[in-house]
Amino acid sequence: MSDTSKTAKLTIGDSSYELPIYTPTAGPDVIDIRKLYGQAGVFTYDPGFTSTAACDSTITFIDGDKGELLHRGYPIDQLAAKSHYLEVCFLLLYGYLPKADELENFERTITQHTMIHEQMHNFFRGFRRDAHPMATMVGVVGAMSAFYHDSTDINNPREREIASHRLIAKMPTIAAMAYKYSIGQPFVYPRNDLDYAANFLHMCFAVPAEEYQVDPILARAMDRIFTLHADHEQNASTSTVRLASSSGANPFACIAAGIACLWGPAHGGANQACLEMLKEIGTPDRIPEYIARAKDKNDPFRLMGFGHRVYKNFDPRATVMKQSADEVLDLLGVENNPILATAKELEKAALADDYFAEKKLFPNVDFYSGVILEAMGFPTSMFTPIFALSRTVGWISQWKEQLADPQMKIGRPRQLYQGETMRDYVDIENR
Ligand code: SDX
Repeated sequence: MSDTSKTAKLTIGDSSYELPIYTPTAGPDVIDIRKLYGQAGVFTYDPGFTSTAACDSTITFIDGDKGELLHRGYPIDQLAAKSHYLEVCFLLLYGYLPKADELENFERTITQHTMIHEQMHNFFRGFRRDAHPMATMVGVVGAMSAFYHDSTDINNPREREIASHRLIAKMPTIAAMAYKYSIGQPFVYPRNDLDYAANFLHMCFAVPAEEYQVDPILARAMDRIFTLHADHEQNASTSTVRLASSSGANPFACIAAGIACLWGPAHGGANQACLEMLKEIGTPDRIPEYIARAKDKNDPFRLMGFGHRVYKNFDPRATVMKQSADEVLDLLGVENNPILATAKELEKAALADDYFAEKKLFPNVDFYSGVILEAMGFPTSMFTPIFALSRTVGWISQWKEQLADPQMKIGRPRQLYQGETMRDYVDIENR
């Protein structure tokens, strides 16, 4: 813990309490309230954790006002431009940029773990073909603990590392299999001669009937999308993984819990919801109608892909994603994509509207990713599985960090109870 010379004074009635203040290397100071209940007999109240730091971390830092995102101190725009996903995985997992031989060994390890146990293929066949791929992924990833017993002991550092490598390596295979199953095509095995992103595209779009060449520009765009989604501080799904891990649950169960949480349209499901919203809007002339609905307090409709709990400026990932959208659609000869046109017009109209300006609602990572993924040939139902695949390294890195934290305790929040106080049971004849 950093410098603890500063304190906060809390006065309740005639009593005063001194609470330590810690100064981080970046971001706001934090007040340590761990002893508050024991000293003052009161809880703090923070539904949605808008003002609560749930842990220490050294992995990712976001400055919401500046629109900055750092992974182990490196800005996301530099990583997106100069690095690649597996190098970012190494950085998130181990805390530093690898030397050439370290990176080569890491990439070889991941490549050699991309197949899943052959028996697991049967799991997919238990689902309906029209099952959402996220449902399949939650089920299959959770079931990994039934197959990989030799990497479920969370107290064994080597088993933790093997589980980390297995999850990073197998998520693309599982996501691609979920997609193939949903369209009635045979599974395509991973290939060790392809890099991570190209392998995923090959497993999704190749068919046994003919050779499939992955376009290197699309592979680069796919890799960049993976990088942009890799980790993001203590977001809802990462916090879910940490809470599950705090009970000692095995890594596969924790990651399955993270996938389930990511699925929600307020979180990782927003990329699917955003593209469906853009399709529903259809043409730019209908944008004012939807902006009015988003501003209407009586209408639950929100502009999917806009707003963020932390970013009160541009999401730096959206900026990079927007550049990628232009490149990919230009390559595919669909630069006149009506959905992209509507997206750009919607962004312009929203940013010019006082409501969005005063509430600091800017496009987030999900706003442009769907446009790219659809142009690459993915159905909207595959957008969140791709987000889950990318975020697995962030979940695993945060999981590893928490297990190594000597302060780790089982997460068990309290509540502001507003229910009935003690009362006696009433027999049914007297009700
Ligand atoms: C991700 O946390 C992370 O880091 C997440 C993520 C990651 O990498 O892990 O970045 C990935 O989840 C990105 C967010 C994707 N979700 C969406 O695009 C869905 C649409 N966005 C909203 O649901 C919302 O903006 C949230 C959930 C993202 C953030 O909500 P907050 O921080 O809880 O803010 P809020 O709901 O309290 O909204 C504040 C105000 C409200 O108005 P008032 O009650 O103050 O009058 O802004 C309004 C909201 O009504 N508002 C919106 C809006 N988002 C917020 N109004 C219209 N459209 C929107 N999109």
